[in-house]
Amino acid sequence: DRHAEFQSALLGWYRAHQRRLPWRTEPSLYKTVVSEFMLQQTQVKTVLPYYDRWLAVLPNFAALAGASEAQVLKLWEGLGYYSRARNLHQLSQAIHALPKPPRTPEAWRELPGVGPYTAAAITSIAFGAPAACVDGNVVRILARLTANRTLFRDSASAAKTFTPLAQALLSPSAPGDHNQAMMELGATVCVRQNPLCLTCPVRPFCAAARAGDPESYPRLAPK
Ligand code: ADE
Repeated sequence: DRHAEFQSALLGWYRAHQRRLPWRTEPSLYKTVVSEFMLQQTQVKTVLPYYDRWLAVLPNFAALAGASEAQVLKLWEGLGYYSRARNLHQLSQAIHALPKPPRTPEAWRELPGVGPYTAAAITSIAFGAPAACVDGNVVRILARLTANRTLFRDSASAAKTFTPLAQALLSPSAPGDHNQAMMELGATVCVRQNPLCLTCPVRPFCAAARAGDPESYPRLAPK
């Protein structure tokens, strides 16, 4: 069917073209959690040196749970939004105290600093949970695929609108790769201005590309 064809085009592209990011080689739950916290509000290229330093000093949940807040904040220094570092520290202590880490997005949402996007990213990547990630990049892709002309009040309301479609499109066999492929597509091809439709793996599925006006989507009310 159409959804399976979309998934196959997206995943084939991702497996051939993905950036070799350090949290993608020999992935683990800990690497996934640290990278997703750092990537909230911060771009990949900024995160890279912080991520490597962090993993060298605090290689697992036990090390992070046992670190002092001063050490944690020192390692985070320069990344900004320091509540992320405090939440990650507290989350590690909570995980370390449990017999086993939780595996569902609902359970992860209970932990400090974990919103719907991060819960879906962590559980799909680390456990293959069938949870779709919806952020600004994914909204942009889905608004273009469907040429959705709704004028959204804000990004939260756009994310809410596109969540059922993101969930329906999610690959049931590879949800973690599918989510990362959508992030990658939004970061490198389906960018806000001058999207690279000529190289897009899902162009045959895209109503906005067909109409020649991808930059018109999504429509967000001025703040
Ligand atoms: N942004 C948020 N999570 C990401 C990931 N796993 N890879 C690349 N960019 C991301």
